[in-house]
Amino acid sequence: MGKGIGFGKVILFNEHFVVYGLPAIASAIEAKTTALVERRAGAGLEIIDERPETKGYKAEKAGQQKESLDLMLKVMNIDTTKNAYRVTLGGDLLAASGVGASAASCAAIARAFSDELGLKYSDDKVNKVAYEGEKGYHGTPSGVDNTAATYGGLIWYKREGSSQRMERMKLKKPVEVVMGNTGLIADTKSVVAAVKERREKEPEKYDLIFQEAEELVQDSRKQLEAFNLKKVGENMDQNHTLLQQIGVSCPELDLLVDLARNNGALGSKLTGTGRGGYMVALTPTRVLQERVARAIEKKGFQALRTTIGV
Ligand code: MEV
Repeated sequence: MGKGIGFGKVILFNEHFVVYGLPAIASAIEAKTTALVERRAGAGLEIIDERPETKGYKAEKAGQQKESLDLMLKVMNIDTTKNAYRVTLGGDLLAASGVGASAASCAAIARAFSDELGLKYSDDKVNKVAYEGEKGYHGTPSGVDNTAATYGGLIWYKREGSSQRMERMKLKKPVEVVMGNTGLIADTKSVVAAVKERREKEPEKYDLIFQEAEELVQDSRKQLEAFNLKKVGENMDQNHTLLQQIGVSCPELDLLVDLARNNGALGSKLTGTGRGGYMVALTPTRVLQERVARAIEKKGFQALRTTIGV
């Protein structure tokens, strides 16, 4: 039996902008997806998905998951017309929008096949396979999710043409964050396509927003590395405003973002695709983390207490 893991992730700065070549900052979170691959008699691929989920997520993504698996099998040169495999997904990462669930499953599956078939994939190869798999979910992924899911840690990521540049970043120490789940399932492909359409309609407005996003992420890298969390939080707030301006927030995300700020979070923003999924709040110290998480739960939403920069 082959085994593999993929990290869940939180995008701290510049989701969406990263699709257009701007840098983004993302961190792995503690929750992971696991994959097991077993060889069986006959032909075909069976997938057993035992991940915990936001209600309805797995059914909604079943078609894209199949597309993603086909793309990964192709790039790994695995022929399921002659061999049969069972892939079992598990782990403690919720299958939900905004936590990198699809990318974590792709990295885990690539690693589990490599383990089962003795392919000895390096992390770089796992990342390439996971990137192919992400195309099933995203259409034109920037690559930030699969990179965070493969390597873990805190990363600076930039897409340069068809290549991808990742640099590891260091935090003085891990920082507590809260991730609030709207419970809404987002479709990355259509949210990304809608941003593209709006950008084409209003190029001047979008150029200004993109320029601000570039400056903001450059400053945020410096502030994170200097461990100036107050300024990091302010920049997260500003990043959320830019994401609102490109139309990827929604009332539920705005409500949770405001709630977190009103309960003392240093900053808060949507994370990932938006239009549902998760938001993230910067809450250094366990006490602050607990206060923000409880406020979110009191409103009837799920809160994930986790850390960045581990
Ligand atoms: C989704 O987690 C992140 C997006 O920026 C899409 C991508 O980077 O491919 C919205």
